[in-house]
Amino acid sequence: MTREIGARFGGHFFLYRLPALHTYNRPATVAEMDMEQAARKQQAAQAALEFIKPGMTLGVGTGSTVNYFIDELIRYRDDLTAIVASSRATEARLRARGLTVSELEDVGDPDLYVDGADEANKHFHLIKGGGGALTREKILAAASRKFVCIIDQSKWVATLGQFPLPVEVIPMARSYVARQFLKVRGQPVWREGVVTDNGNHILDVRNLQISNPVEFESRFNQVAGIVTVGLFANRPADVILLADDSGVKRMDRR
Ligand code: A5P
Repeated sequence: MTREIGARFGGHFFLYRLPALHTYNRPATVAEMDMEQAARKQQAAQAALEFIKPGMTLGVGTGSTVNYFIDELIRYRDDLTAIVASSRATEARLRARGLTVSELEDVGDPDLYVDGADEANKHFHLIKGGGGALTREKILAAASRKFVCIIDQSKWVATLGQFPLPVEVIPMARSYVARQFLKVRGQPVWREGVVTDNGNHILDVRNLQISNPVEFESRFNQVAGIVTVGLFANRPADVILLADDSGVKRMDRR
């Protein structure tokens, strides 16, 4: 269970995830909860390092969990054949840590892709795109032989949709696309001021309960003007590394 708290800062709407409040072992402050979550993200990221093998081409995702993974990568610099980034932000962080970043077009399909998620379910379906990098993330996930998803327990859900579904749209189609989500009782909100690495806009669609993620992804990916929806169901994760109170649990998709 998680709860989400919305807040407005400088005209932007932010969502924060907080763990459900239990009556025991309850962190005293929001800062304490954030520290616990940060520690879990770091644990999940460290567990993913074990998947790196000599000679691999590695795809690297985007977000605060993956940032912990990036911070450890320098140790593997000489083992890796190439590294491909899923966003300009990730590319910059990799380069700042002395790593060479290649283009997917130049190096071919990655052996391994490591990325976080905003939500994950037991079928390894994901919602991604909270950081706005969903399209490039989906390309790398699709191209990669193995997709390892690293999450803390706040991301684990029974039904996808509590986290607003990010959708990348061609700017001129924003209102048209928004109306298509209204038809399924979604509440699309324009992530105003954000331009993706591909020059597009993001809608965050609230109020969805996505009971059939494969069908939902296929249906909405066909809407004119949608570049992609942030559902990773047709290409789910292969492995989930979930960090909770008891450590990191590894789950493999059959
Ligand atoms: C980036 O666009 C997203 O898909 C992230 O992978 C996802 O939002 C997870 O981010 P955090 O690791 O920061 O929670």
